[in-house]
Amino acid sequence: MQDNWKQLKISGLSKKFLRGPVILSDINLTVDRGAFLCILGPSGCGKSTLVDLIAGFEPPSEGVISFDATPIRGPGPDRVVIFQDISNALFPWLTVLENTEFVLKNFVRNKNQRRDQAMQALELVGLGGDTQKFPSELSGGMKQRVQIARGLVMDPHVLIMDEPFAALDAITRRRMQYELKDLWERTHKTVIFVTHDITEALIMATKVTILSSGPGAHILDSFDPGLASDRDPADAEFINAYRRVESLIGNEHNDSESHAE
Ligand SMILES: Nc1ncnc2c1ncn2[C@@H]1O[C@H](COP(=O)(O)OP(=O)(O)OP(=O)(O)O)[C@@H](O)[C@H]1O
Ligand SMILES: [Mg+2]
Repeated sequence: MQDNWKQLKISGLSKKFLRGPVILSDINLTVDRGAFLCILGPSGCGKSTLVDLIAGFEPPSEGVISFDATPIRGPGPDRVVIFQDISNALFPWLTVLENTEFVLKNFVRNKNQRRDQAMQALELVGLGGDTQKFPSELSGGMKQRVQIARGLVMDPHVLIMDEPFAALDAITRRRMQYELKDLWERTHKTVIFVTHDITEALIMATKVTILSSGPGAHILDSFDPGLASDRDPADAEFINAYRRVESLIGNEHNDSESHAE
């Protein structure tokens, strides 16, 4: 896999499972290297399906996903996925450090090197002092930080996160949003982040993509919210961006309600 890629490109992507309707319909999207893309859309519209396709867990029915001109065929260590599940994701019998080292087992042969890389990733997420703890000793936010460290340690091209903070309480969740934004600023990893929450998306995103309601979801709009690095949901520009996204999603709800009548 080439290291000097510039864009992840999704072209003419559609997805239909063996049973049921078309889920995603003609999705076209580019993600620049180093971007923080947030994907928003109504519940059940196909956000997780879209990221499963990007991760390579599912093949497209039509269309192509590629790094520049190189198509993705199946999962690979260049794309790491972090899910919302904080209770079952870690091995309870391994320490934080061992949990993080473990994911490198098939990729890095030297044990000391695995340890060094795992330590670096744990330092990045602020867990440098908690490496000998077991998962049962961690808060929800700390568990999710271990998961992020396990993603970072692979040094992937893209970190894919499917509602990673949905199971956290509101205060921890907000803190994690700012922490992740800070981490992204320090590492400049490309992030694709799925959420229902407009504020969450706007705290972090350099680009937002809004999906329509399904079946046959398509992209309603994709844009750079144009917010300063130092973002506050109370700022006028933040509120404007919020309203723009909300009206897109709101119109969609109204449309689908009127279609249903
Ligand atoms: N393996 C599958 N086989 C058949 N249908 C599926 C499969 N996976 C997902 N679907 C269907 O695809 C649609 C989109 O599901 P998906 O989980 O992608 O939505 P979502 O936007 O992530 O929803 P949520 O916001 O609730 O997380 C749903 O109708 C779901 O039933
Ligand atoms: Mg989902």
